[in-house]
Amino acid sequence: MTRKELLNKNWLFHYGELERQPLKTTKKAVSLGGLTAPLANETGSRLPISAGGNHFLKLIAQGNAEQGLLNLAGTDLTDKLSDDWKKIDLPHDWNRKVPYVNQPEKLMSGSKPDAVGYYRRTFKLSTNELNRTKTVLHFDGVMRMADVWLNGVYLGHNNSGYNSFSFDITEMARYGEEGDNVILVRADTTTGAEGWWYEGAGIYRSVWLEHRPLVSIVSDDCYIYTKSLDNSNATLGIEFSVKNDTDKLQTVIPTVSLDDKNVIRFNEVEIASYQKYDFKKTIEINDPKLWTPENPYCYSASFEIETDKIQKSFGIHTFSYTTDGFFLNGQSYQLHGICEHQDFAGVGTAMNQDIVNYKVKVMKNMGVNAWRSTHHFASEELLNACDHFGIILINENRLLESSPWRVNDLKQMVLRDRMHPSIGFWSISNEELIGNTPSGSRIAQKLTRTIKQYDHEHLIIGAELLTPEGIIDENYVKNLDVLGVNYPEAGVMGSGAKLIHKKYPKLPMMSTENASYFSTRGIYKDNGEKRQCNNFGSYFSMVLPGVRKPEDPGVGGTAHPETVMSYLKDNPYMGGVFLWTGFDYYGEPSPFNWPAISSQFGIADLCGFPKDYYYYYQAHWTKKPMVHVMPSWNKDQLNLDKQGQVEIRAFSNTEKVELFVNDHSYGKKDLTDCSANWTIPYELGELKVVAYQKDEIVAQDSRFSSSKTKQVLPQKVYEGGTTTLFALKAIDDNGKFVENANETVNLDVSDGKIIGNGNGDPIDQNLDNDKVNLFNGLALVIVSKNGDLRVQLN
Ligand code: GAL
Repeated sequence: MTRKELLNKNWLFHYGELERQPLKTTKKAVSLGGLTAPLANETGSRLPISAGGNHFLKLIAQGNAEQGLLNLAGTDLTDKLSDDWKKIDLPHDWNRKVPYVNQPEKLMSGSKPDAVGYYRRTFKLSTNELNRTKTVLHFDGVMRMADVWLNGVYLGHNNSGYNSFSFDITEMARYGEEGDNVILVRADTTTGAEGWWYEGAGIYRSVWLEHRPLVSIVSDDCYIYTKSLDNSNATLGIEFSVKNDTDKLQTVIPTVSLDDKNVIRFNEVEIASYQKYDFKKTIEINDPKLWTPENPYCYSASFEIETDKIQKSFGIHTFSYTTDGFFLNGQSYQLHGICEHQDFAGVGTAMNQDIVNYKVKVMKNMGVNAWRSTHHFASEELLNACDHFGIILINENRLLESSPWRVNDLKQMVLRDRMHPSIGFWSISNEELIGNTPSGSRIAQKLTRTIKQYDHEHLIIGAELLTPEGIIDENYVKNLDVLGVNYPEAGVMGSGAKLIHKKYPKLPMMSTENASYFSTRGIYKDNGEKRQCNNFGSYFSMVLPGVRKPEDPGVGGTAHPETVMSYLKDNPYMGGVFLWTGFDYYGEPSPFNWPAISSQFGIADLCGFPKDYYYYYQAHWTKKPMVHVMPSWNKDQLNLDKQGQVEIRAFSNTEKVELFVNDHSYGKKDLTDCSANWTIPYELGELKVVAYQKDEIVAQDSRFSSSKTKQVLPQKVYEGGTTTLFALKAIDDNGKFVENANETVNLDVSDGKIIGNGNGDPIDQNLDNDKVNLFNGLALVIVSKNGDLRVQLN
């Protein structure tokens, strides 16, 4: 059976170039030596040499075989691991621990220097594997250009930081007494960025060793998809292939079972030696359980032959898009989406399944049902989380290039991902300058052809730049199932979307990016020096410097949440929204510069702590009665007017809300756009909003004035398979949350380790794992699963 072994533990990492950079070619096979092969303390020789080989080496070097080897192949026999090599586990983003640099050209990518890093690991293979399995080394993702060596040989190269890649090492691997296998990886971010955001650095996703039987089912060829769906019947396409890697003819009788019960049998087939056979069938399923975000039913599919078994899950569903918007399973369905890069507080891009699950759950609680993986392919972890929690995914290729390696990356990612229940769309571009040009059209055609060759189920979009005049290239657009437009609601270019719709009323259009509203968690007045933006709406602008007037372009962000939601209401043919972004991310600190190191577009901060507008969207998108009141209730955090009055806003999905300060009522109010606003005098104590449904109290929310921090309480916010996330909360003498606490907390853990920490402050440049600064009363600590976290106020 195909067996996957995780190779994430016990790597050695070296920051910076090696004194002796490993070579890639050599005059004699397997003879690179150095760190690419076993060292003195490891088992196995740097280069296995036959008796004849030894004889020859001696002949050419007056009896000294070692000298002969040096003369002939230049084999590095001396290199050792220096003290600079540190023990680490994957996933690993080396940039998290590298000091920030104040260089304007690095601001967008998170103010970290570009560098080279090396990873090295040994592993053993048993002789049981020999001649019985194919051994494949698989990388889920390395940022960025990667070179890989194994046992004295240069295996190859990978260009992009966003695709996965594999090497078949069956013959080059060493088995049993032959000694240790050595993997050396060089990751290089100096070759140019792929994005204008923080991308991380190093082996930031998992590494696997796959053992495949010699007669095997080809995992990427396994594919089940919905061909059509009516009320009680689904027609499914099934495809897979079997490969015979033996020197004999092999007979196979495959089966595919769905949910371990519905068994589909295939005819007996003879497969010639070293050949592959493709199987295809169409089947009907009665009363299928459909996959929807509300009920994400994942069927399990098991592809089997006598020697192998591959398990995957799939969803039964259909996706279509018309000029009336998006349809899921034939029903009109509004997309409540977010856009998201892939990073998180403290760990950068090294996000394991638990952290990804946590992020997806935070957004799901807000009512999100769609996710655009901007502007790169989604990780396996994100796909899994979206499958199981119920999120429709836009998987993005973005770069409109058709170089052979980019097209190959796209093909591999389509093959890897196409069966995931959550995928609804492929995006081929985002705001590409070459989009809507003749050469852009040729490239788009090649990319869509590549996708459609392997994928029979999903929709293709491109997220395009708008002009105020609504100019598009018809040849370009005809490659897309849906024309995606970014920020159609925004004053600076939104008119373009309306003009396109008017001119091409039959063209399906979708809103692919919205809002870019900036706010800093817990902040209720703008502060340029601290790089902080008011949650009521900032007076900073992305396009103009300094504090602006409300009518200036770009004030508060590209568009305010209210504008986005009202645009969606008026233009349902745009399918929904994809808010930029779910979470703050490292890099792109608009509207600020250094020392800001993270963006502020998030609806939640870098740690996943919701900002106030999280509840505005929740009020629109969820049904369980809820209410949220803003601002916080400590005077120093507030923008009081000359009369000592302060603005209050509540978000709720109920019928009426009533505001109280210290139990004095300011009356009930109806909600407009799920919001209610008041201006009242500030008064120390409790700010409370009560929400009513038919005069019955169904929800309430309070914020309190607090005194000094007395203690810091860790609260588990997520416990996953390997990782636990703790929120640290500052509490005063009366047990009240201290919303303006900014003290430093010392951290310590027994039975585990601290993986990272953060606080959502856009200028916090802390690199230490054992201390964290509270930011507006909160911080987050990520600990390995059973770690017992202890916290102490500094
Ligand atoms: C968009 C772009 C995003 C991000 C955003 C900030 O135009 O697609 O990557 O830069 O602007 O507002």
